[in-house]
Amino acid sequence: MKNNKNLLMMLSCSAALFAACNGNPKTTDSTVKDSASTTTQHVPDSANFEADLQGQKVKLFTLKNTSGATVAITNYGGRLVSLLVPDKDGKATDVILGYDSVKSYQKRGEPYFGAIIGRYGNRIAKGKFTLDGKAYQLDINDGVNTLHGGFNGFYGKVFSAKQLSASQLELTYVSKDGEGGYPGNLTATVVYTLGDDNSLKIEYKATTDKTTVVNLTNHAYFNLNGAGSPTITDNVLQINADAFLPVDTTLIPTGKLQPVKGTPFDFTVSKTIGKDIGTADEQLKNGKGYDHNFVLNKHDLTTPIATVKSTVTGITLEVFTEEPGLQFYSGNFLTGATKDGKGGKAYPYRSAFCLETQHFPDAPNQAAFASTVLKPGQTYHTVTIYKFSK
Ligand code: BGC
Repeated sequence: MKNNKNLLMMLSCSAALFAACNGNPKTTDSTVKDSASTTTQHVPDSANFEADLQGQKVKLFTLKNTSGATVAITNYGGRLVSLLVPDKDGKATDVILGYDSVKSYQKRGEPYFGAIIGRYGNRIAKGKFTLDGKAYQLDINDGVNTLHGGFNGFYGKVFSAKQLSASQLELTYVSKDGEGGYPGNLTATVVYTLGDDNSLKIEYKATTDKTTVVNLTNHAYFNLNGAGSPTITDNVLQINADAFLPVDTTLIPTGKLQPVKGTPFDFTVSKTIGKDIGTADEQLKNGKGYDHNFVLNKHDLTTPIATVKSTVTGITLEVFTEEPGLQFYSGNFLTGATKDGKGGKAYPYRSAFCLETQHFPDAPNQAAFASTVLKPGQTYHTVTIYKFSK
């Protein structure tokens, strides 16, 4: 066990050194020492994010705080590109997966890296729902279902951007009536705020001019050992959820709330992500690992609903949210087939996890789930915070 871990660390160090010798993009004033090696970690060159797309300017924005954290965000998909936080030795580590240029994001190898997901986070069965007696048909972009807003979700849209301060960025996207099949002109605003306590607050707002459904989230892929490290199965996870939503083979919730007790889905007490992931279990089989919505216990923004820790870097992530659900995805569809990640890194199978705060998947078709309906005159408003410590 210990030997395996050492081997993995050696492999990740040599991969990092290899990347450094092979022309990492030029460093910027955000350059910091990597925790796991002597190579440098830095946000990508902002020139690689300058583009004219959809009649708007795409850019890379940088947020900084007084505690050594740096966040890079592009308005292409409203994405988190880099999230550098101090490790146990005080050295900054990039804990999210991503690409080095807007062109790489446009190739859609993994379309959702760090993106704002809209109009609807996760799946809606067969891409159909009915509102006020009217049937709507959405894009079918994931087998027989719609996923993450369809073929043209927010992840591929250019947001208008306003940097409010050194630590705050406001992004706005107006989704036209009928886009992706969804009713209503929807104006969505997302404000990212980097706190001096190394918290990244994401505040979502939306309004509509026709009754619609909305379920926004962020799709950061985390690896607390550092992006590009080979696995997250050794990251230690705790989730405040006594139940989860079992899914069918197309990953649509069956509608039941299943207690986690006695199942591999019990993260009420911390355990490594890998501890039970290989158990013969119908739900793990359906998800090809963890790819399920956890029904969060009663909570508010003052208590973390999930905590993850890396024993390699000592970095801890706490997640706070106002949402009722948490989609825990263990990176089961990552393949590592190409070295197109930041700094020329490959992102292999299960080398990242996602903790997407949201209402439940398929809520528009499941009356027992909390409603995702938004009406004209109402404002959708929800806050999620990812807080890092060591
Ligand atoms: C979904 C996964 C999907 C992934 C895409 C997650 O939110 O639940 O099934 O593969 O997003 O990156």
